[in-house]
Amino acid sequence: MSTQDDLQATIRDMVQRGKGILAADESTPTITKRFQAVGIECNEETRRTYRQLLLSTPGIGDYIAGVILFEETLGQKADDGTPLVELARRAGIVPGIKVDKGLAGLANAPGDKVTQGLDGLPERLAGYKAQGARFAKWRAVYAIGPANPTRLAIETNAEVLARYAAICQEAGIVPIVEPEVLIDGDHDIEQCETVTEAVQHEVFHALKRHRVQLEYMLLKPNMVVPGKACAAKAPPEEVAERTVRVMRRTVAAAVPSVNFLSGGLTPQEASAFLNAMNRDYRNLPWLLSFSYARALQEPPMATWQGKAANAGAAQAAFIKRARLNGLAQRGEYQAAMEQG
Ligand code: 13P
Repeated sequence: MSTQDDLQATIRDMVQRGKGILAADESTPTITKRFQAVGIECNEETRRTYRQLLLSTPGIGDYIAGVILFEETLGQKADDGTPLVELARRAGIVPGIKVDKGLAGLANAPGDKVTQGLDGLPERLAGYKAQGARFAKWRAVYAIGPANPTRLAIETNAEVLARYAAICQEAGIVPIVEPEVLIDGDHDIEQCETVTEAVQHEVFHALKRHRVQLEYMLLKPNMVVPGKACAAKAPPEEVAERTVRVMRRTVAAAVPSVNFLSGGLTPQEASAFLNAMNRDYRNLPWLLSFSYARALQEPPMATWQGKAANAGAAQAAFIKRARLNGLAQRGEYQAAMEQG
């Protein structure tokens, strides 16, 4: 197959009604933090066992079309020797890989960060592809503060995201482009909307400049929400209205799917907000779906606690969130479904 055929087939397999993406690509320091918060010891074996538990959940492929893995997982095997990548594939889930190398302070822009990892990326992608990865993820972050994000950070991260996306497509790997405006802080929803619009506008300019084929990429943005420490909360209808408005203003219609991150929302908020968009807005040019880490994994991780005896209950907690988010993709979720 040509790289073009690869891109097309991957998009076809990943963009499906009622399905989304599981982000299970936490770096070792991040998953250590998440495990510790619920009392699970973090080592290579517990990480392997936990990720095997997620990928072997019966029926999970009904709601999850793609999984983002961390480099370590790409080389790990299930108890019976099956590679975890193969476990995903058998469930009908496309395996992908986080390829960025984390954040560094952006020089001359105090408070802003730039994402690292472009050096050697073509060579790394060839290796990941040989191991079964068909798509990639790269995350840029933007904190909202009195002077942040600066124009410099908005332009620099857009440029880097676009270079990453172009390199991926050249390798026949579908890029997930993730510009995340952080939820941390006491800013209001209006500020989040203004910053998200500016960030995405710049990202699409850069994608055009770098000749990225918009048909063969996925966007993974934040929803427009008030800061965690903002006193004024926003109902799902307002989040949906503001988020859809920003997407319409900035995201080209050629992009097949927008898969939101959960970014510190509760699992219930993440489902309710996605649902409101799909319920209240029809005939949008893109699928609106999810690519959640915390909002899918918090309940199963807390249920599992690192104990084999809890594996079944953890899988039940996981598929419940996957199913509810699958319904939210269709605009058919209701808060009452949280019971039972
Ligand atoms: P959250 O859904 O927890 O924000 O994680 C998504 C992700 O992959 C961040 O890069």
